[in-house]
Amino acid sequence: MPAITIAIANQKGGVGKTTTTINLGAAMASFGIPTLLVDMDPQGNATSSLGIEKKAGTGIYEPLLAGDDLSPRVVATNQENLWIIPSELDLAAAELELSSQDNYLIKLRKSLYNLSQNYGLKAILIDCPPTLGLLSMNSLCAADFLLITLQSEYLALEGLSQITRVIHQLKQSGANPDIRLGGIAMTMYDNRTRLSYEVWQEVNKHYPEEIFRTAIPRTVRLSEAPSFGKTIFQYEPNGIGAKAYLALAREVRKRFFE
Ligand SMILES: Nc1ncnc2c1ncn2[C@@H]1O[C@H](COP(=O)(O)OP(=O)(O)OP(=O)(O)O)[C@@H](O)[C@H]1O
Ligand SMILES: [Mg+2]
Repeated sequence: MPAITIAIANQKGGVGKTTTTINLGAAMASFGIPTLLVDMDPQGNATSSLGIEKKAGTGIYEPLLAGDDLSPRVVATNQENLWIIPSELDLAAAELELSSQDNYLIKLRKSLYNLSQNYGLKAILIDCPPTLGLLSMNSLCAADFLLITLQSEYLALEGLSQITRVIHQLKQSGANPDIRLGGIAMTMYDNRTRLSYEVWQEVNKHYPEEIFRTAIPRTVRLSEAPSFGKTIFQYEPNGIGAKAYLALAREVRKRFFE
């Protein structure tokens, strides 16, 4: 069985994609699910959040373009069952270079398929950049499911139609006929405001099947942890952020892995 691949995407910036990739991945790894994170964002926030240095020549850039084996780029994290293929700044150039290649949409899919066979991975989470350029497109073409993170704020739903349209196009064109919108995770949920609840309800009205019951609360701990190179489970294991990501991971496990 190849790994189940989930692209965590939203073309909107700063909506909790990276925070979710890392902490969801860490929680799944703690359930004993061998999980690989792939940092497809040239910003490399997922990489540095795990305390891994972004160094030229160590990320996904070269093997992705060359179609080479990705295994030399897989880095073990300080948590069991959790690996990452880091990003590097040069990845920004890949966008342009990819466009001149054959099969440029499915390069990542092919590479990851081989990797998951060799490593016995069960889950691959891809952290996408805040654009719908070729790096995100490659991620979506490699994915079985799209997981969208939405900030619990006014106009959260705006822009959702754009990304769901892209999913539709990828299906129709045959680039990835099997991709599905797997879930919507609400992030930065503020219990004290009515707005967060109203936004949650609004999303629930339109996407009752996709929205996860767990909303990730806004807590400063989640934003502090990356600067120590730690997941929330290492930084504040008993806090509300850790509890929420654990609950979200249980939902994800139930939805995709059982
Ligand atoms: N639940 C939360 N509570 C408080 N701060 C959060 C929460 N989730 C994320 N943040 C912070 O908000 C900022 C944006 O989050 P994050 O980097 O995860 O979003 P992103 O969608 O990956 O951003 P980008 O589009 O730039 O890649 C970061 O500083 C992060 O630490
Ligand atoms: Mg990010």
